[in-house]
Amino acid sequence: MNEFFKMLKKDHEEVKGILGKLKETKEKESSKREDLFQKLREELVPHMKAEESAFYPPLMEKKEAREDAMEGIEEHHVSELVLKELEKMPKDEDKWGAKVGVFKELVEHHIKDEESKLFKSAEKALDADEFKKIMKQFEQDKDKNKKKLK
Ligand SMILES: [Fe+2]
Repeated sequence: MNEFFKMLKKDHEEVKGILGKLKETKEKESSKREDLFQKLREELVPHMKAEESAFYPPLMEKKEAREDAMEGIEEHHVSELVLKELEKMPKDEDKWGAKVGVFKELVEHHIKDEESKLFKSAEKALDADEFKKIMKQFEQDKDKNKKKLK
């Protein structure tokens, strides 16, 4: 498999793991929720932002990938909105658990779309040199966003 896809998949696995743990938490474990939620943000936000700055724009230029990229961008947008709501809401509210469950489904759906549809159309649309450039940019942007988040 393409090195860049491997890198994205590794991030995706990490995010899915944290989401699975978060889903298991109860209202009375609000400090555990808080810790896991911060871990999730640190993983997810720099990853999404780096995809948005390094991966999606070149895909938007290619007719083979444009539609899938646009859908991905919208899914990121909705994910960011829900993530902000989860951040603001007290972690001991019972609604928080329901919201995080919906968020988990949303992110898992997005990951599945990316790994099946988007990766396939990206592979058709981009050559090895373009992938190399995108991967370098992605790593840089993710790193920058990670520092900004803290
Ligand atoms: Fe994504």
